[in-house]
Amino acid sequence: MRTKVAIIGAGPAGLLLGQLLHTYGVDNLILERHTGEYVLDRIRAGLLEEGTVALLDEVGAGSRAHAEGLVHEGIELAFGGRRHRVDLKGATGKTVTIYGQTEVTLDLMNARRDAGLASIYEAADVTPLDFDTDHPRVSYVKDGATHEIACDFIAGCDGFHGISRASVKPSAIETFERIYPFGWLGILSDTPPVSHELIYSNHPRGFALCTMRSARRSRYYVQCPLEDHIDQWPDDRFWDELKRRLDDEAAGKLVTGPSIEKSIAPLRSFVAEPMRFGRMFLAGDAAHIVPPTGAKGLNLAASDAHYLARAFREYYDESSSAGIDHYSEKALSRVWKAVRFSWWMTSMLHKFPDTGTFGARIQLAELDYVTHSNAATTSLAENYVGLPY
Ligand code: APR
Ligand code: PHB
Repeated sequence: MRTKVAIIGAGPAGLLLGQLLHTYGVDNLILERHTGEYVLDRIRAGLLEEGTVALLDEVGAGSRAHAEGLVHEGIELAFGGRRHRVDLKGATGKTVTIYGQTEVTLDLMNARRDAGLASIYEAADVTPLDFDTDHPRVSYVKDGATHEIACDFIAGCDGFHGISRASVKPSAIETFERIYPFGWLGILSDTPPVSHELIYSNHPRGFALCTMRSARRSRYYVQCPLEDHIDQWPDDRFWDELKRRLDDEAAGKLVTGPSIEKSIAPLRSFVAEPMRFGRMFLAGDAAHIVPPTGAKGLNLAASDAHYLARAFREYYDESSSAGIDHYSEKALSRVWKAVRFSWWMTSMLHKFPDTGTFGARIQLAELDYVTHSNAATTSLAENYVGLPY
């Protein structure tokens, strides 16, 4: 079998890249370790920058995000017992759209199926080969038989634990990492959201976030110790803890109900440099991870897919290697700014075990500054809605 671009991983990065390449007339094939149902079962963040929505539109997969997504013009920061609104639209002219990553993945999967493009799910032992030569290949095992795909390029879109980055020799790659000393305990519930905008709360008991999936489905998170297990968090305990971390008005209005999903996720910042190794390119979580504060993970996967698809188009349409030669530098420049923003939001909003009362006072001063200085509000807002591509 032969294709121009062999894409490893059918998460948002791989699926969007595949659709963009198809739109540009570049044939591609996706290899995914799991089933489509498994990929769709993973609950992740759900906030899209305008640039991400525009990319879904570009590949004809944006109609449901427009119809069902909730457009938000602001967010609220809660601290010191009060809530303060950040007017995103007023500061930047831009909005964000609440629309679950699961839905984005489903829309892209449907677009790929409708276009009749090849995807091989349940591909085991996927291995990128010879990417430091002009003849890269990818081998995989399906139904007990080994197969090989010859290609021009390999796109490693296989997430943080994927095989692509792991296949690079250690001397060719540099990694940067920060592990945070807490996790996020998240629940989904079929209850109306407590507020029509997101509330990010800095509280002496720890961070809390009120977000949503629709007018009837809420998503809430509380900061929790990394060692905690969901069995220690029956619904009653979760709701009680969330209420304690909100201002009185929000706590009074909160509608509780049974959780339909509950999970704990660790928080990590991670970047691998470069994002290109000969004829293999990394995109999305395969190359970088951000903590969810600010919801940049999916949006970075989308901007990587955009840069990489444009680079391949330039290669095939204009016989120019300039795009692929600059991909890593271009993508990393946007990645590091989102890594900085996510780290900064995380640092400002969470309770850190080692910074004590001094650290807590500095956070309050920063939140007060951010919500009262036009310059600081604009800086938060322009990063939150997404920096330009
Ligand atoms: N072979 C084939 N597929 C693989 C392999 C492998 N060895 N390893 C991983 N995969 C698949 C995974 O099963 C998954 O479906 O690659 C896909 C990677 O998808 P994601 O982890 O969703 O990563 P990405 O597409 O980069 O999307 C980034 O997802 O993790 C969130 O917050 C993150 O929102 C961001 C987005
Ligand atoms: C979500 O809706 O799950 C979400 C929104 C914003 C964040 C993180 C998660 O910062």
